[in-house]
Amino acid sequence: MEITDTIVGIDVGTTKTCAVVANVGLDGDLAILGVGLVPTRGMLKGVVNDIEKVIASIREARIQAERAANVDIDSAFVTLNGAHVRAILSNAVVAIADPNRGITAEDAENALDISQRVAIPDGSRLVDVRVRDYIVDGQIGISDPVGMSGMRLEVNALLLTAGIPQLEDLYRAVNQAGIDVENIILKPIASAEAILGSDERERGVAVVDIGGGTTGVAVYRDDGLSHVRILPLGGDHIDSDLVYGIGVSKRQARHLMIKFGGVDKEHRNSEDIIELSKDGGGRKEVLPLKILSEIIYPRIEEILRLIKQDLTDAGIINDLKSGIVLTGGLAQLPGISDVTADITGYRTRIGYPRGIQGLPEDIRNPMFSTAIGLVKLGHFEMVDKLSTFQPNGVHNALTTVGGWGKQVMKMFFS
Ligand SMILES: Nc1ncnc2c1ncn2[C@@H]1O[C@H](COP(=O)(O)OP(=O)(O)O)[C@@H](O)[C@H]1O
Ligand SMILES: [Mg+2]
Repeated sequence: MEITDTIVGIDVGTTKTCAVVANVGLDGDLAILGVGLVPTRGMLKGVVNDIEKVIASIREARIQAERAANVDIDSAFVTLNGAHVRAILSNAVVAIADPNRGITAEDAENALDISQRVAIPDGSRLVDVRVRDYIVDGQIGISDPVGMSGMRLEVNALLLTAGIPQLEDLYRAVNQAGIDVENIILKPIASAEAILGSDERERGVAVVDIGGGTTGVAVYRDDGLSHVRILPLGGDHIDSDLVYGIGVSKRQARHLMIKFGGVDKEHRNSEDIIELSKDGGGRKEVLPLKILSEIIYPRIEEILRLIKQDLTDAGIINDLKSGIVLTGGLAQLPGISDVTADITGYRTRIGYPRGIQGLPEDIRNPMFSTAIGLVKLGHFEMVDKLSTFQPNGVHNALTTVGGWGKQVMKMFFS
């Protein structure tokens, strides 16, 4: 790889569009060159709702990032989000041709190929394939079987599918903002990359990314992705609750939430009052801080209960030895970590982006986990492209399927 390699990640969120430009130094480490950040218009619950507005948002973020980094952006890794994204668990078995030689990369690749021969729901297509784990002669939880001896190799793979119209809209919006899509990466997977330690991924952990329009869940265990879910719920719903509950504008609601919101005991039992003018004029009204918490808390509780239910339904509720890592804009809400621990029964921490040089102080925030994770995964993908199939690589699917996805998408739109 050339030392001048530049990697761009664009998180097209429901709330904000964030473009991060990074480069790979001589030491192989990533460093941020520049960031573009603008409010997103035209996205709803993680998907394109008004394409012209989304194009304009991406274009603006791109121009800002180009100026900041002093580079031209012509391609980027982009987030895929929305409740249309589904994860299908698939299992495949291959017999090992020559047990004396041991399991080869080819055997592992074969198993992974076979795992993809399942019916994809109508109107959806496969966008990514991840190895959950391999099983060799009944021995479970193996992340890299190559070199092991055995007769029978089994793979549990997670097939990620997405709605075709939603994919089309996303590609179109990015392309029309003058950018080629290097690859799409599922939002909570990108966030996870920026915030998790390898020990957590090994022991079992659920990343919960609460943004404006969606809450994304990505679960890892034995170093592999084992579950994904996107709920169409997030901070926007709290804003709406505040609009109805206290009669303020959407803008004011968001401001109140960010400035005064909280679900810790101090907020919930507070005797303090806030003064605000609901009509934007001079007439001030008072609002007890407690009321604000009373509106915010049930929504947070609802989201967390749904997540717990989903983890239970997926059969992985007991797999999370490292608990939950919260990230996304809502992870900044005071008290959310304790409430999460109370409701789910898991120890919970807040995930801040890390593992990249030149991270400006204001980007060291859970709001930016996704964008930072995108460039980290983009970097892995570039490195992987130069190497051969890696059976245990979380990233192999990005190159095999992602590259495939890119070609299909090109055919799709040409
Ligand atoms: N300091 C804060 N406290 C509580 N909520 C916040 C704070 N900052 C942002 N939020 C909320 O986070 C949400 C946006 O999350 P973010 O991850 O930045 O957006 P996106 O949906 O674009 O990924 C909004 O609902 C916003 O109100
Ligand atoms: Mg976010």
